[in-house]
Amino acid sequence: MEFYGYYCLLNELLLGIIMKGKSDFFQKERPSSQVIEGLLSEMKNADLPWQSGKVMAYVYEPSAEAYDLIKKAYMMFLTENGLDPTAFGSLLKMEQEVIGTALELLNGDGNSAGNFTFGGTESIILAIKTARDYARDKRPDVQRPNIVLPVTAHAAFFKACHYLCVEAKVIPVDEKTFTPSIDAYRDAIDENTLMLVGSSPSYAHGVIDPIKDIAALAQEKNLLCHVDACVGGMYLPFAQSLGYDIPDFDFSVEGVTSISMDFHKYGYTAKGASCILHKDRAMRKYQLYTCSAWSGYSIVNPTVLSSKTGGSLAACWANLKFLGYEGYKSIVEGTQAAKTKVEEAVKANPHLDLLGQPVMNMIAFGSDKVDLFELAGRMKQKGWYIQLQFKHGISPTNIHLSINRANVRHIDNFITDLNAVANELAASPVEGGIPFPQELLDSLTPEMVNQLKEGLGVGDGEAPGDLTLVNRILDAASPSTRDMILKEFVNGLFR
Ligand SMILES: Cc1ncc(COP(=O)(O)O)c(C=O)c1O
Repeated sequence: MEFYGYYCLLNELLLGIIMKGKSDFFQKERPSSQVIEGLLSEMKNADLPWQSGKVMAYVYEPSAEAYDLIKKAYMMFLTENGLDPTAFGSLLKMEQEVIGTALELLNGDGNSAGNFTFGGTESIILAIKTARDYARDKRPDVQRPNIVLPVTAHAAFFKACHYLCVEAKVIPVDEKTFTPSIDAYRDAIDENTLMLVGSSPSYAHGVIDPIKDIAALAQEKNLLCHVDACVGGMYLPFAQSLGYDIPDFDFSVEGVTSISMDFHKYGYTAKGASCILHKDRAMRKYQLYTCSAWSGYSIVNPTVLSSKTGGSLAACWANLKFLGYEGYKSIVEGTQAAKTKVEEAVKANPHLDLLGQPVMNMIAFGSDKVDLFELAGRMKQKGWYIQLQFKHGISPTNIHLSINRANVRHIDNFITDLNAVANELAASPVEGGIPFPQELLDSLTPEMVNQLKEGLGVGDGEAPGDLTLVNRILDAASPSTRDMILKEFVNGLFR
């Protein structure tokens, strides 16, 4: 007994030495699972309250019943590993059916193919990898590959180009329609061009690029043509079937060679669900990655991730089946009606300016009469989460709204609050817009940004409580200064 007592004491002392200077995350007394659940709930409760139905970004909430099913399906396949499609036949079958459904929706044919991915960015990375590796095989003369895309294309393309060492040749868009001209694509194409990109629609303004003309030009020049339908893929086919005037944007358009489409947006399923689709199955070979030249198991990855949960695929499969074609159509009917109401309200408000002609439930508006930072802040006080977009090129500072199913029931209240706040700010403008001298912004250094953080009382590991001032600075800064500021903040945020 005595020996055991010493042994315990020694153990404690040793543990004390090992843990000295460490955080108390690993506790000597392990908490029970109930205590841990409580801690998780506490953290979750402090998050953006998406359950309110007043959040117009980030979250795409299906019906309560669908949500329940999604959670069950995710949990059922949580542990199954998508690394090896021959080991988990269930995942292969579900992926075949999900991709088959996506191809049917987007007018693929018997020779079309695709893969389930974990997000739009991954799908876009794979589209660009496919183009790059196809050129390596078929166009060895291409030394410095590039793709041509409008400035409104999602940042994921820039990230993919950065990762894959492909140049992004950016073309401008019209200041009224926010879409690019075919002449701009034509002028940008050179002997190193692999692919032309169009969005259907673009995230920022919700407008569709002239896909038919882009694809025709790609065919004429013997190039690939990618359509980014990350937000539109699970939405526009239903809007078309409801009679909305939506131009063709998918594989029904001659010359479109690949499409990215997300399920975790307007497919209303759990995060980690998107796909990359190819008109011609033969192209998919350039998307695959294989590695047998190492001492372990042979790798053949259709997508970026290797080991991956089967949860998000199972949730997606279950949700698609549960909502069905008619379910999605009815959701789109609701969100399109809400979008029309908001669009008309914005047009009718003399202080707000609708940007472009949004085709689906994504709208952006600017203003030269009211301070949009203040507007976003006051709307937040009323419980609405709406998204600020910084000015860039011909796109002014604006507010973006993604109106999802959960927002529909609140849309009249939203319009009332938006009008009230805009009118209030127009009647008594706030002196928020401290002009930041451009010279000062351009000369900002990482040290100065960290001093600013200190001045704002933002310590390492903390996000600023009120983002208004930071947003104003970011909006006024050039893209490269903006990137630097963001890197400083985020580098301090994560451990
Ligand atoms: C048009 C478009 N493309 C690509 C993406 C990137 O998708 P993800 O955030 O799933 O990587 C988004 C995200 O909003 C988008 O709107």
